[in-house]
Amino acid sequence: MCDLKHASEHAFGYLVDAPEIRALVTETKRAAAEIGDTAARLEALKPAFAALLASDGWLPPKYASPDDTSGMGSGIGQYALYRAEDRSLTLFSLVIPAGAETPVHDHLAWGLIGIYRGRQHETVYRRLDDGRDEARAVLEVSRSQVMDTGQFYSLIPPLDDIHYVKTVSDEPSVSIHLLANDTACVWRHRFEPATGAVQAFRSGYSNAPCPEPLTAR
Ligand SMILES: [Fe+2]
Repeated sequence: MCDLKHASEHAFGYLVDAPEIRALVTETKRAAAEIGDTAARLEALKPAFAALLASDGWLPPKYASPDDTSGMGSGIGQYALYRAEDRSLTLFSLVIPAGAETPVHDHLAWGLIGIYRGRQHETVYRRLDDGRDEARAVLEVSRSQVMDTGQFYSLIPPLDDIHYVKTVSDEPSVSIHLLANDTACVWRHRFEPATGAVQAFRSGYSNAPCPEPLTAR
């Protein structure tokens, strides 16, 4: 198991080295090289992703626990499990304490997101403005759904890329994200739908540094 010091010294590659993780990453790299169409690529990856969600024993308990120092707030832990050196792919766990919720945010990368433990309620927004104003967005809820352990969905931005999730199980929820960027270290956006405010933000990982310091833009 990687402790925090070990992880920070090895910020890329397999931060958690388990056969189940290697199998999914290997399959994802193969699909990324061979399948140009994003929807087809994600479809091809679904069996490997479902297999990881169905497997036990590969996620260290620390990476399934909340993080009080979270960059997401509310004790939300975001733990890198694999990071490609070229920052084109990340596998990470997101741990949301019972009753807590993320800010409304985007991801800016294709990928697969699924529930490993617990249950989440997801609210997805549609952006109604043209996106040219970096400080404001007009959002409306396009759908909401409860996601149970083992369920997952594919993400192809900009469609359905803005959402927030809340843990609705008695225990923290753990979701697994396979996304085609260095998600916690790239500049993304957090939204306040009631006021229309948009802020650039980087969440940072709980267990690995970003190449660039997490300072305000
Ligand atoms: Fe998200």
